[in-house]
Amino acid sequence: MCGIFAYLNYLTPKSRKEVLEILVNGLKRLEYRGYDSAGVAIDGPDPKTLTIVKAIGKVKALEDKINATEDKSNFDDVTDSHVGISHTRWATHGVPCDRNAHPQRSDANGSFVVVHNGIVTNYKDIKVFLSKKGFEFESDTDTEVIVKLVHHIYTVHPNWSFREIVEHVIAQLEGAYALCFKSSFFPGECVATRRGSPLLVGIKTKTRLATDHVPILYSKEEPLIPDAEQHSLSDHRPHGRELPLMPRSESTSEFQPLEDKEVEYFFASDASAVIEHTNRVIFLEDDDVAAVKDGLLSIHRLRRSTEDPHAREITTVKMEIQQIMKGNYSFFMQKEIFEQPESVVNTMRGRMNFENQTVILGGIKDYIPEIRRCRRLMLIGCGTSYHSAVATRQLLEELTELPVMVELASDFLDRNTPVFRDDVCFFISQSGETADSLMALRYCKLRGALIVGVTNTVGSSICRESHCGIHINAGPEIGVASTKAYTSQFISLVMFALVMSEDKISLQPRRQEIIMGLKNLDEQIREVLQSDSAIQTLAKDLYQQKSLLIMGRGYNFATCMEGALKVKELTYMHSEGILAGELKHGPLALVDKAMPMIIIITRDPVYQKCMNALQQITAREGRPILICEKGDVDTQSFSSKIIEVPHAVDCLQGILTVIPMQLLSYHIAVLRGCNVDCPRNLAKSVTVE
Ligand code: F6R
Repeated sequence: MCGIFAYLNYLTPKSRKEVLEILVNGLKRLEYRGYDSAGVAIDGPDPKTLTIVKAIGKVKALEDKINATEDKSNFDDVTDSHVGISHTRWATHGVPCDRNAHPQRSDANGSFVVVHNGIVTNYKDIKVFLSKKGFEFESDTDTEVIVKLVHHIYTVHPNWSFREIVEHVIAQLEGAYALCFKSSFFPGECVATRRGSPLLVGIKTKTRLATDHVPILYSKEEPLIPDAEQHSLSDHRPHGRELPLMPRSESTSEFQPLEDKEVEYFFASDASAVIEHTNRVIFLEDDDVAAVKDGLLSIHRLRRSTEDPHAREITTVKMEIQQIMKGNYSFFMQKEIFEQPESVVNTMRGRMNFENQTVILGGIKDYIPEIRRCRRLMLIGCGTSYHSAVATRQLLEELTELPVMVELASDFLDRNTPVFRDDVCFFISQSGETADSLMALRYCKLRGALIVGVTNTVGSSICRESHCGIHINAGPEIGVASTKAYTSQFISLVMFALVMSEDKISLQPRRQEIIMGLKNLDEQIREVLQSDSAIQTLAKDLYQQKSLLIMGRGYNFATCMEGALKVKELTYMHSEGILAGELKHGPLALVDKAMPMIIIITRDPVYQKCMNALQQITAREGRPILICEKGDVDTQSFSSKIIEVPHAVDCLQGILTVIPMQLLSYHIAVLRGCNVDCPRNLAKSVTVE
C-alpha cells in the first residue's frame, strides 16, 4: 500500500549516483507494497535545487529511466551530505500516471517534496483552502495538498524550522499517513512522521552507537495560526470543526544519539528495505515527528500523554539479507511456498517440546489464566489471515471449550459488533499493518477486550497495540500472495489451542495426537512439495479455463476458500471456494462436464458426507480433480485426476491440502503470463480502509 524510502548521509561522501542506487534498491525491497508507479527526488548538483525522476509501473521502469538520463556525468558529483526521498505507489486517489506519482511537489522548483503512504480523508477541504490562497494543483492525489500546505505555512512563517512546519501541517490532516519531506529551503534536512501507516528509521554509523535509545522531545500547546486563517480553513471542514491548537517546541536543542559524527539515516515503510545497510532501527509511533538536521536525529511529539515513554528504543532487527533475496527461485512466491518445511519449524521452535509434550507461548503465557476465564474468543483478520482463523476455529472450540467467532475485520466494524470486557480478541495479520484489522483492534481495545496479536512483523502496529501476542516467525514474506504466513498462522493458533487444553485430562489423547502430528509436519510438507511437477502438468490442463470451483467441508473448507483466493489474485480467473454441505442449495446448478472443479476429500469425520457430494457431481457428468490421501484407492477411483497428500491428523490436514492449491495457482499464473509476485491492482500491506 505504497512504500516509502528516504536516505540521508552526513559527512559520508556519496555521489548522487550512489544515492540514487540506494534509493532504487530500497524501493525494490518495498515494491510488494505497490507497483503502479515509482519516483525519487534527490538534491540537484547544487543542493538548493532538486531533481525528480518518476516512471509509471514498477521500480525497474524508474531505474531504466534514470539510466537513460542523457547527462549521466551529472550524477557523479560527490557531496558530504545528501537527502533523497523515494516512493513506490499503490494508487488510491488518481490513476497511475506521471503527475500522480510521488514525490509530489509544492511548486515547479520542487521547493518542498513529499512521499506519502496512506489516505488523507480531509484533503478536499484543505484543497479548497489552498486554492483560495492561489495554489494551483497539478495532480489528482490527496498527497499534493500536504506538500502545498507545507509550502504555505513556510511562506507565512519563514522563521520556523522545517520540523515545526511539518508539525503544524500534520495537525490539520485527517486519515492515515507515513510521510517523508525534503526541501530545497532546508538542504541536508529530512522530516518524517506517521499516523496509521508504518515508518521506521534505520541508523548506520561506522562505530558502535553510543546509545540504544533516542529521547522524545515534547512540544507545548500554543496557537500558531493567526485566528483569521484558522477560521478560513475550519469553514471548509465538515461540521466546521476547529483546528487544534498548534505546538511550539519546548526544547531548541537537538539530541545527538551518536558518538560518531559520520552517519547515514534511512526512513522506510519496513525493515526489509534497510537491512542491507543496517539492522539498528527505531520503529516510529503514531504522531512521532522525526527530524534530521546537521546529522542529528531528534524525535518529537506534539503532546505528552501519561502513557508515553520518554524515549524510543533503537532495536536490532533480526533479519538476514538472504531472507529477502529470491535465490534460485523465479519468484518470491515460489521460494516462499518451498520454504514451508522450514518456516513451520521456525514457528514451533522453542515453543513445542515434543519429548515431554508441552507447549509454551512466551508472548501470551502470563495472560493464559485471564484467557481461560473469558466469555468468548474472537478471531479477526482479512483475506488469507482470516482463512487461517476459519481453518482453526473448530479445533479451538474443541480444545478451549469456549465459543469462538471468526470475523472479517471490515465487516466486523461495519456491523458495530458488540464486544465486551471479558472477550479475548485475536488479530491475525501477516504484516501487522492492515488498516481494517488495526481499526477493529482499536475498537475492541476501547471496549475493554483483551487483545492478542498474531503477526509476522515485529514492531508492526498490531504488534505494538496488542496486550500480548504470538509472533508467527515465518520470516519475511515478500510475494504479495500470502503462502508461508498462512501455514505459520495456522500452526500458531493450533499451538494456542494446545496451551489452553494442557490441564484438561479428558483432552490429553487428542492433544498428544496433534502434538505428534505437528512433529511430522515438515517431512509431510516436503512430501507434498514433491508433487510440484505433477501439479504443473495439471496447471497446463486448466490455465485456459475461465473458472475453477474448489469444494470441501469440515477442516478442509478453509483450504477451499484460501485456494480460491490464491487462484483469483494470481491468475485473474474466477474461482470460488464452496462448502460441500451447501452444494445442493445452489452451486450444484453450475456443475456439468465442462466446469473445472477440485474436490478436497480426506479421511476425516466428514469423509462420507464429502463422498456424497462427490457422487452428486459425478452423477451430473462433473469431472472433478481430487485432492485426497495417498493410497486411498476407493476415493481415487472416482476421478482420473488426483493430487495425493499424506495422511495427517484431521485438524492439521488443511496445512497439507493448501500447498497443492498454492502450487497450482502459482503454475497457472506463470502459464497465463501473470506477474506472480505483483498481481495487478494488489499490494501486500493494505494500510487503507
Ligand atoms: C492474499 C493476501 C491477503 C492478505 C490480507 C491481510 O494472498 O495476502 O488477502 O492476507 O490483505 O493481510 P495481513 O495478513 O497482512 O493483515
